[in-house]
Amino acid sequence: MAILFGGRNSEHAVSILGAGSVLEVIDRSRYEVIPIGIARDGRWVLASGDQRYAIEGGELPSVDARGAELVLPSGDGPLVARDASSVPVELGRVDVVFPVMHGPFAEDGTIQGLLEMAGVRYVGSGVLASAVGMDKAYMKMVLAASGLPVGPYVTIRDRDWRVDRDRVLKEVQELGWPVFVKPARAGSSQGISKASDLEELERAVELAREHDPKVLVEAAITGREIECAVLESLGDEPPQASLPGEILVHGDHEFYDFEAKYVGDDMSLVVPADLSGGLTEDLRAMAVRAFEALGCEGLARVDFFCTDDGRLLLNEINTMPGFTAMSAAPQLWEATGLPYAELVDRLIRLALE
Ligand code: DAL
Ligand code: MG
Repeated sequence: MAILFGGRNSEHAVSILGAGSVLEVIDRSRYEVIPIGIARDGRWVLASGDQRYAIEGGELPSVDARGAELVLPSGDGPLVARDASSVPVELGRVDVVFPVMHGPFAEDGTIQGLLEMAGVRYVGSGVLASAVGMDKAYMKMVLAASGLPVGPYVTIRDRDWRVDRDRVLKEVQELGWPVFVKPARAGSSQGISKASDLEELERAVELAREHDPKVLVEAAITGREIECAVLESLGDEPPQASLPGEILVHGDHEFYDFEAKYVGDDMSLVVPADLSGGLTEDLRAMAVRAFEALGCEGLARVDFFCTDDGRLLLNEINTMPGFTAMSAAPQLWEATGLPYAELVDRLIRLALE
């Protein structure tokens, strides 16, 4: 099997952290593992023994593109690498690929499409679910059309912002302040900021547009952040929902931002979340419905808000959620009785099924 990590996007490092955790627990007596990094410039390399998978001295890891370059698999042909002298080296046939990658060109259907074309099986959702899950505008449309509750939002397309800004600003003002401004296609809170007036809004939209010309503006929801992981079942059983967990952010963060997620220890996950039995069961059922609405496969993490008056709103679904052993989805499964190593093994079996 091949483990893919890195990628051409702002979640490059987050992906490497996840791959490092998977490499630590994967059962080498069962799987022969080929670690493959995708550099920020898009080159595929066979990861060398020097590849760093952890944060060291505050430095995030990255893929160094100077290793042996890979030739992409096609059909059931072997995976081939060219070493520094350009001599092809056959790595063997790959039965399954685990793309431990997040964000554009990684979790958005593009890599999935490539693997479909190559006829290689892979862990996680297929092309459509990945693409819909990556694009917050389409994600909300599909969730809402399936009868799931989503909060109020406005989508700002590139042209709207450039030539129709007054109309867009008026629509946003109708949401009420403050709002959260997000790139439509990004993850790990990259490019997200809060705006409390028109001036801040303009700045926030420009920031989000550095990641994606399509931007979402969401009404701020006051309430608790609750996450639930969903896992496809082997055989014909329906997908299963984990226990829900509550995200608590400490320290000086306006929201659950990149720093709180990955740097320092300003976040904790409380599992099970302290919710009434009825709310817990509603939330788990909604998480499974969201998984099925998008047609997800393998796993997903569904993020909710629970408002102060006890309503559940679906914030988003992540088709390849953060996947270090300490990330929310693995922790939620651990607390539900499925340890990380077994979760990894289950995902590979599902892909091979
Ligand atoms: N996009 C990050 C990895 C997450 O959803 O966990
Ligand atoms: Mg996301």
